[in-house]
Amino acid sequence: MTISFDEFVDEAMKILDVNLRGYKIKRVQRRTDSLMRRYNVENYAQCLDLLKKDQQFREAYLDHFTINTSEFFRNPQSFKYLEENIIPELFAGNKKVNIWSAPCSNGSEPYTLAIILTELGYDKSRYRILASDIDTGVLEEAQQGIYNENAIGNVPPALLKKYFEEIEGLSIKYKLSREIMDKVNFEYKDLIKEPYEKGWDLILSRNFFIYLTTEIKEMLTHKFVQVLKPGGYLFLGNTEFIFTPEKFGLQKVYSSFYQKI
Ligand SMILES: C[S@@+](CC[C@H](N)C(=O)[O-])C[C@H]1O[C@@H](n2cnc3c(N)ncnc32)[C@H](O)[C@@H]1O
Repeated sequence: MTISFDEFVDEAMKILDVNLRGYKIKRVQRRTDSLMRRYNVENYAQCLDLLKKDQQFREAYLDHFTINTSEFFRNPQSFKYLEENIIPELFAGNKKVNIWSAPCSNGSEPYTLAIILTELGYDKSRYRILASDIDTGVLEEAQQGIYNENAIGNVPPALLKKYFEEIEGLSIKYKLSREIMDKVNFEYKDLIKEPYEKGWDLILSRNFFIYLTTEIKEMLTHKFVQVLKPGGYLFLGNTEFIFTPEKFGLQKVYSSFYQKI
């Protein structure tokens, strides 16, 4: 039996309980095809069969279709702007500052925030950092806190020395200090399907919208704005823009930073 990619997607969505149609479909097809080549799967019908029967393949599919690339201090200039302009404003009052990294991948992004806040001298009791992702594999990596050289390339040398320990092995790895790891909480969440917790001062949703259809991107922008506090900030990736921010009750403040009006 042969089936089209369209039919494959309809069935795969039921098996995986993931809205594959929320993502740019050509990319989903490219990722599906490359995984099939890797596993010598001949056609979409066979791929569906494996998704139904083979848990390992199911996990491999979920792992492969989401792009997990992340690094500490990704786009350093944006983090500098955050540190110099947004963070002082958010911490000016006495209230606890709520920060959400959604999605967080392997933790490089929320841990970057924890490093910045530690360097600025803010006690853990002054803020909460929650980090969410759909991929259980990257959430496990985040909780181990062990990174390769690609992830730490932008970490300033003094901070690398202070917060990471080099682990010798086949290749050099870097273990993040417990002090920083204890400042972030991780959770599994499907950001497309699940409801969001309210009351955020800052939401980082970076390098995620680029994979989504316009319709889902707009739906998620509305969802994020709904749970931001008035005056709170949405921080996107460097190649992601909201073209009519006022439509969502946002105003652009700088590059990829938007503030809820
Ligand atoms: C390219 S990474 C971006 C990570 C980080 N924000 C950064 O900029 O470095 C994209 C992440 O989105 C996650 N993701 C994809 N679809 C998701 C969904 N529906 N809900 C939650 N996370 C999702 C993937 O698992 C992946 O870790």
